[in-house]
Amino acid sequence: MLKINNLSAAVDDGQKTILEGLSLDIPAGEVHAIMGPNGAGKSTLSYVLTGRDGYDVTGGDVTLDGDNLLDMDPEERAAKGMFLSFQYPLEIPGVPTMTFLKTALNAQRRARGEEEMAAPEFLKKARALAKELKMKPEMLKRPLNVGFSGGEKKRMEIFQMMMLEPRFIVMDETDSGLDVDALRIVADGVNKLRSPDRGMLIITHYQRLLDYIVPDRVHVLSGGKIAASGDADFAKKLEAEGYDAYAA
Ligand SMILES: Nc1ncnc2c1ncn2[C@@H]1O[C@H](COP(=O)(O)OP(=O)(O)OP(=O)(O)O)[C@@H](O)[C@H]1O
Ligand SMILES: [Mg+2]
Repeated sequence: MLKINNLSAAVDDGQKTILEGLSLDIPAGEVHAIMGPNGAGKSTLSYVLTGRDGYDVTGGDVTLDGDNLLDMDPEERAAKGMFLSFQYPLEIPGVPTMTFLKTALNAQRRARGEEEMAAPEFLKKARALAKELKMKPEMLKRPLNVGFSGGEKKRMEIFQMMMLEPRFIVMDETDSGLDVDALRIVADGVNKLRSPDRGMLIITHYQRLLDYIVPDRVHVLSGGKIAASGDADFAKKLEAEGYDAYAA
């Protein structure tokens, strides 16, 4: 489903190379985790995949369902179903959460040639989901993420994912700063979204998240590439032993 082949990327106007020959294949239906030391380039990878400005691809290619992702602008990637849950979710003052989501959802539907979702249907779906995620209804009326606590922001990321039903999900440390209950909510949300035709890449520092979301594969990003891979138990080994063995 997502195939990353020999990807290199640089920041700072191409001055600083972060990813160097990274290859990774995530088949549909699988959940892969990426771990690795601070500054290894995990967030950079998520930005390159979603097409954020300032992250220049200097080599390699990425395809999603066979289509060249790197040729698409960020909106096209979103319409194709690429979704990034941020390490630090953005605050958008002045834009109510529901307005933001409905606009995003219908823009993606239009781009795919589908009919827009009507307001009553959207509201019904959003309310039911907010209840399921134990979110206060007033959060949906507030401007997106503004003044939300860390845990509330993460819950909002899960809420957006479940509303948008993306094809491929990249989660960048959606677990950081969560209390145990919120961690469960994030994990349950992710597990509900597991499906034979959806792939997920979970970036995390904490093995404990992977107790709830058992990944099919675990990779170490170090030295700009995937330095080692293993099954779910590999995360436990990494937590116990650290990343020294995989240093660049
Ligand atoms: N716009 C930028 N300009 C200069 N350096 C940058 C820029 N963006 C990222 N970097 C650098 O690239 C490296 C990789 O950063 P990145 O955020 O991808 O790491 P990470 O693996 O996500 O780390 P963490 O585990 O701390 O979240 C870091 O050294 C960072 O300082
Ligand atoms: Mg990061």
